Amino acid sequence: MEFLRLRLAVLGVLAIVGSLGLRVTRASAAPKCRWVCDEGSNRDSRLTYDSRMEMNEGRQARRLGVDPYPPQPTPPTHRVAFSVARTTPIGPLPNDTILPFDFMFSNAGGAFDMETGLFTAPVSGTYFFSFRGQKRSAQYLMYLGLWKNGEEMAGVYEDNLDPQNPNPSPGNASNNLILHLFERDQVYLMISDNAIAFSTVFGKYVGFSGFLLFPDNPYA
Ligand SMILES: *[C@@H]1O[C@H](CO)[C@@H](O)[C@H](O)[C@H]1NC(C)=O
Ligand SMILES: *[C@@H]1O[C@H](CO)[C@@H](O)[C@H](O)[C@H]1NC(C)=O
Repeated sequence: MEFLRLRLAVLGVLAIVGSLGLRVTRASAAPKCRWVCDEGSNRDSRLTYDSRMEMNEGRQARRLGVDPYPPQPTPPTHRVAFSVARTTPIGPLPNDTILPFDFMFSNAGGAFDMETGLFTAPVSGTYFFSFRGQKRSAQYLMYLGLWKNGEEMAGVYEDNLDPQNPNPSPGNASNNLILHLFERDQVYLMISDNAIAFSTVFGKYVGFSGFLLFPDNPYA
């Protein structure tokens, strides 16, 4: 009888200690609600399913001795880079004309349209562009402009005309700039009316390149 009472007492004490322990762990679990927590009144339902999973994963990671919050890889961003050229001369033309290209070095992201000569920004951000042209004419100057949405941003020209010399030494010009573009802005080269731009398969002296330096939204 005495022995039974002792056992009951021991069990009672164990039960109290156990429930205290449970309360302590529950209480200490509450401030760990660092992630998104539900508004519910019941303490146990305050953690969302996802945050509970995250906590379990964190505990398991610590148990295995690995960093529960390792550095995340850089999120994927838009990859935009193109480089195109002409393999033939162009001009003189009766009016300003968007320069068409027939040779593609690269067009990562596919934002440059070879048919129209238009680069269309797939994402808002800061872009780099460079372009070049050559003159091999005694009568016509070379003039190329870089345009954005109908507005000229920069140009290159070669105008040392010498009608006495039918084979003047070639003149070369290039320019480059960094532009902020919004998504769907268009950038293209324009050859001026009555101008020429000389190019060959070998030299590809007329060319246009551009790439995204960084997007406005780093997660875009
Ligand atoms: C510019 O000239 C080309 C011919 O080289 C012609 O097809 C085009 O319609 C002209 N554009 C304008 C706006 O006059
Ligand atoms: C332009 O480049 C060509 C080669 O493509 C060269 O022969 C010529 O001398 C250059 N012109 C000048 C003014 O440097």
